[in-house]
Amino acid sequence: MNYRHSYHAGNFADVHKHIALLALLAALSRKDKGFLFLDTHAGCGLYDLHGEQARKGGETAAGIERLDTSANAVSPEIQHYFDSLTKLREITGAHSYPGSPLLAATALRRHDRGLCVEFVAQEARLLQRNLDSIAAFSPCVVRAETGDGYQRLTALLPPIERRALVLIDPPYEAADEYARILTALPEALRRLDSAVIAVWFPVKRQRDVDLWLAKVARVITQPTLVAQLWLHPRDIAAGLNGSGLLIVNPPWQIDTRLAVWQEELRQRLGGDGNSGSDVRWIIHE
Ligand SMILES: C[S@@+](CC[C@H](N)C(=O)[O-])C[C@H]1O[C@@H](n2cnc3c(N)ncnc32)[C@H](O)[C@@H]1O
Repeated sequence: MNYRHSYHAGNFADVHKHIALLALLAALSRKDKGFLFLDTHAGCGLYDLHGEQARKGGETAAGIERLDTSANAVSPEIQHYFDSLTKLREITGAHSYPGSPLLAATALRRHDRGLCVEFVAQEARLLQRNLDSIAAFSPCVVRAETGDGYQRLTALLPPIERRALVLIDPPYEAADEYARILTALPEALRRLDSAVIAVWFPVKRQRDVDLWLAKVARVITQPTLVAQLWLHPRDIAAGLNGSGLLIVNPPWQIDTRLAVWQEELRQRLGGDGNSGSDVRWIIHE
């Protein structure tokens, strides 16, 4: 596998996904009962935006670097993300960018459980070190492990807590990635039908995305919504035109809030006439 997230960390898709992740974690924390947070494709958790790989990728300019994180956001979800980033950067450095495991670690409570699976052993070891480095800022002990995220998803559900938030964020380099998700979703929901599952997907050609979403709607029955933010026309298969999130069993009012903060984010990212955002149910409540 060639994929390294360090070339892409902090791009607009990461920002979109990470605001949503924090909003989902906050929504699940409204109930006192603990839950399992499972990150099936975790990465190494911390990235150097001034490092060679980030500079080569050059994607942060249209992402995190485009945002003035010191200017207050109107949407609490975006503000929460800015605050988490600022808090983490006090330890990890001003030019660092946290991945989903470290962001989640700041949001999880003592009685929640965090488990982050990464296929590349070296990245998983680095992730554990990065999690350890911010342990003082997380009341929850979050663990990293080497493995296949899809296999671990099946093995870990249902969790003892009977509540789970799963983030599935694959690199989409393997030809069978979409097919694996189509198998993993019903399998996970068979084990825990209330699991909240967020799947990130690239928006290149909207037509291709819609065909895949139609397949998703045929293999599961749980309420599911799709949120997309795009910065470029969605008609070229080559580039990353937009960022998409499929959310199964979305917590209450996540849809209306998503519509509001996605639009604020689009404007803050300098979106022009080619950009847009939408939120729609593909399986209704
Ligand atoms: C897009 S990155 C993850 C980024 C991370 N979720 C974040 O937001 O910071 C995808 C990661 O999945 C890993 N990966 C690829 N296939 C995997 C699999 N089957 N199981 C677990 N990890 C996998 C890659 O090595 C890569 O680090």
